[in-house]
Amino acid sequence: MRWFFLILFAVAVMFAVGIGPRGEKFSKPPLYVFNDMDWQDKLKFQKPSEFFENGQGARKPVANTVPIGYTFPTSPDSAPAESEYFLNGTFGDYYGDGMPAEVTVDNALLQRGQERYQIFCTPCHGTSGNGQGIVSKYWAIPPTANLLDPRVVAMPDGQIFWTITHGKGLMGPYNGAIPAADRWAITAYVRAMQAAGGSK
Ligand code: HEC
Repeated sequence: MRWFFLILFAVAVMFAVGIGPRGEKFSKPPLYVFNDMDWQDKLKFQKPSEFFENGQGARKPVANTVPIGYTFPTSPDSAPAESEYFLNGTFGDYYGDGMPAEVTVDNALLQRGQERYQIFCTPCHGTSGNGQGIVSKYWAIPPTANLLDPRVVAMPDGQIFWTITHGKGLMGPYNGAIPAADRWAITAYVRAMQAAGGSK
C-alpha cells in the first residue's frame, strides 16, 4: 500500500510538471493534455482545399444574394448598378421621384409585396402596418414605427425603399435578405396599406 501511494505521488508530480504550471512563459510549446480550442482547422486566403469538390478554398457568392455591407446586385443579369432602381435614396437626402422606371405597379407586384411584407415586416410593424406587431407586445422601447403615420405617408417612395435596404435604429438592413425587386414590391404594398388607411 505504501508503494502504491509513493508511485501515485510520483506520477502526480510528473503529470503536473509535464503539463506545466499555467501562466508561466516557456520557450517550447507546452504538452497539451486538453487542447481546448487552441488548434482548429482553418483555411488561409487563396489556398486550395480538398473539402470542396472543385478544390477551390475560396467560395463564390451565392447567386441572387448580396453580402452584408453591399447594396448592389451581384448577378450580372440584373439592371446596371447606376440605375435609380438600386441607388434610390443613397445620395444624401435625394430619394428619387416616385417609383423608378423599372417598376410597374400592378396587381401582381402588390400581391408579391403583400406576401413579402407578411414574411419580413409583420412581426414588428403588424399586418396592417400600424406598428402593433407581436414584437410590440414584448419589446416596446423604442416603439416600432407606425407605417400609417402621416410622417411615413409623407416620405418619398425611395425613402421607404432606403429604410428597407439599410434599416433604421433597431430595424436591421434587409438588402441581404430581400432582393431589390422585392424591396420595391414591399414599398408599393406599404403605399397600398397607407392608401387603405389600415385598421387598428
Ligand atoms: C425587428 C423589427 C422590425 C422589422 C422586422 C421591420 N422593422 Fe421597420 N422599423 C422597426 C423599428 C423599431 C423602427 C423605428 C426605427 C427608428 O425610428 O429608430 C422601424 C421603422 C420603419 C420605417 C420608418 C422609418 C423612419 O424613417 O421613420 C419604415 C418605413 C419601416 N420600418 C419599414 C419596414 C419594412 C417595409 C419592413 C419589412 C421589410 C420592416 N420595416 C421590418 C422595426 C422593424
